[in-house]
Amino acid sequence: MYMKKIILAALLLLGVSVLLSAKSVKKEKAEKVETGPEVAARLHYNENGTFKILQLTDTHVIAGDPRSERTMQNVNAVLDAEKPDFVIHTGDIVYGKPARESALMLLQLLVDRGIPFAVALGNHDSDFDLSREEIYELVRSVPGNVNTPAKESLSGYSNDILTLSGKNGLERVFYLFDSGNRDYLNGYKSWGYVHIDQILWYRDAGNYFKSLNSGNPVPSLAFMHIPPQEYRQAIHDNSKNVRYLSGNFGEEPATPTFNSGLVTVMREQGDIEAITTGHDHNNDFVMLWRGLFLIYGRYGGCDTVYNDLKPSGARVFEFTEGQAGFRTWIRLADGRIEQDFVLTPGMKTLSGQ
Ligand SMILES: [Fe+2]
Repeated sequence: MYMKKIILAALLLLGVSVLLSAKSVKKEKAEKVETGPEVAARLHYNENGTFKILQLTDTHVIAGDPRSERTMQNVNAVLDAEKPDFVIHTGDIVYGKPARESALMLLQLLVDRGIPFAVALGNHDSDFDLSREEIYELVRSVPGNVNTPAKESLSGYSNDILTLSGKNGLERVFYLFDSGNRDYLNGYKSWGYVHIDQILWYRDAGNYFKSLNSGNPVPSLAFMHIPPQEYRQAIHDNSKNVRYLSGNFGEEPATPTFNSGLVTVMREQGDIEAITTGHDHNNDFVMLWRGLFLIYGRYGGCDTVYNDLKPSGARVFEFTEGQAGFRTWIRLADGRIEQDFVLTPGMKTLSGQ
């Protein structure tokens, strides 16, 4: 009888501890969902109920080079004309040594105005006398920068998430991807690309934001330097599923040789409305391709590298609280505006898709 009691007590204890450990696992999972991904900046609409992001790209600055003095003048003019709430530089900040002085010279224009900013590094940023890690840390040290420390688990450095909220909560998410420099896959040369670990990071984050939005995708934009392969595919798509909206198409998109599946996952998730990139200096167009806006920024430098689009400028994205879609245009350094469009999720290609 006594033995039976001991066995019963032991079984009871075992049961309680199993229950407890199950509970703690559950709690851990629940906390994970509750916490969500690391967010670099939680942005809010300004007092006018709008939020303006200016995309600088491919400024290709070389400190001490007179051509880059012109870049400074042009970027100043664009910033003065637009007075953005936030700047995202989609890479190729610099194009020579000393990279430190070159990057700081450009970013100082944002510091002078107190404009917060984030960077998605370009292929050339790590081509000179700073490693990718060093230039990323340099950018992060500049006042106003919101990029987070590089994540061990992710390829590249400048992978970040920004959120934009209004009175009724979260309305938009902006993903910044590090699209790398160059890659050699089994010996075959390719431009850098967004790797599988980054794609899964984006997907997990998107699922978390869905969980905050009754299971519905939160409208999002993706910023990166090198365009994914679908840009090239879209340009050569002769079907009615593509609609060229505006802008210059001056060169074949220099996309990765192989397709890592980023855009496929974006289509599965249903949250990304638009991708915007840099990299191809003679392109600044907007296309609607199978329900997705494929966009280029506007070349932002002055002649330190090939560029036929003159004068330089920047693309602007303006979001209005409570409204679907966004307005985008290009501001040129001479004050002109080009490609002024309101892009909405309901826009149709010729086939109605
Ligand atoms: Fe570039």
